[in-house]
Amino acid sequence: MDPSIYQFPDIFRCVHMEAPGDIAREVRFLQEVWRHHLKRPVRRVLDIACGNSPHGQILARASIEVAGIDRSPTMIAAGRAEAAGLKGLRFYRRRIEQFQLPEKPFDTAFFMSETFPIMIHNRDIITHLQSVAASLKRGGLYCIDIDRQGGVELVSQRTLWRERTVQAGDAQVEVREYHRPIEWHEAIHSIYELECTIHFGDRAVITRDVIPVRYITPPLMDLTARASKKFEMLAAYADLSITRPIAQCYGRWLAVLRRI
Ligand SMILES: C[S@@+](CC[C@H](N)C(=O)[O-])C[C@H]1O[C@@H](n2cnc3c(N)ncnc32)[C@H](O)[C@@H]1O
Repeated sequence: MDPSIYQFPDIFRCVHMEAPGDIAREVRFLQEVWRHHLKRPVRRVLDIACGNSPHGQILARASIEVAGIDRSPTMIAAGRAEAAGLKGLRFYRRRIEQFQLPEKPFDTAFFMSETFPIMIHNRDIITHLQSVAASLKRGGLYCIDIDRQGGVELVSQRTLWRERTVQAGDAQVEVREYHRPIEWHEAIHSIYELECTIHFGDRAVITRDVIPVRYITPPLMDLTARASKKFEMLAAYADLSITRPIAQCYGRWLAVLRRI
């Protein structure tokens, strides 16, 4: 089996087309949402699928306590190394589908990087929300960053979607993204395949991540929250803006759920 891009934490950031300042902007928006919907200070935060927790690192520097969960030991190791000496940022190796933490309840939780739609089974989405709810105070917020469904077409065979070359430090990376066929009756909208050929100079490594994606729109998130019996949906914000109408959403939206 090919390795995963998450085994190369520095390179994954360049592959995902992250621009300088993006993470800080996301953190500022989360804090704006917290101020808007939570009438008490945020002192303890849970970062879901945290990777190396770039958001958590910014928050911890602002004296907020952060715990992150992720399944990847490599991403967690990178986060621990980057956060060395930073008090108040802890990592746990957990799967997002169902987890428990030896922690007091948090004020808020967040799930960034548009990763929520990788949960494709009804059962996993519900146990995920129940796990997050068990880690949150009553009235606590759960903010979920979701990409806007861009009209993915069904394909009958593996089809190249887009390709580009990026520079990641000394490594040059050829990135190819594919769509794979799905059955009409599946609960997913596409199978996304990310292939990266990383040229390290004298050798090349090919990574491959195959990710079934189940898009979710604001009304479906509202339904999902109700089905969990643990959350209600308060708002859907477009493109890191409190004021932009959701119908004008360009790239991503943020679901804001409240623990009931
Ligand atoms: C796109 S990265 C985002 C990392 C981080 N939140 C950020 O903004 O940089 C997605 C992360 O989700 C993690 N992940 C994917 N599936 C997971 C699962 N089932 N359970 C736990 N973590 C998972 C990966 O290991 C990876 O670190």
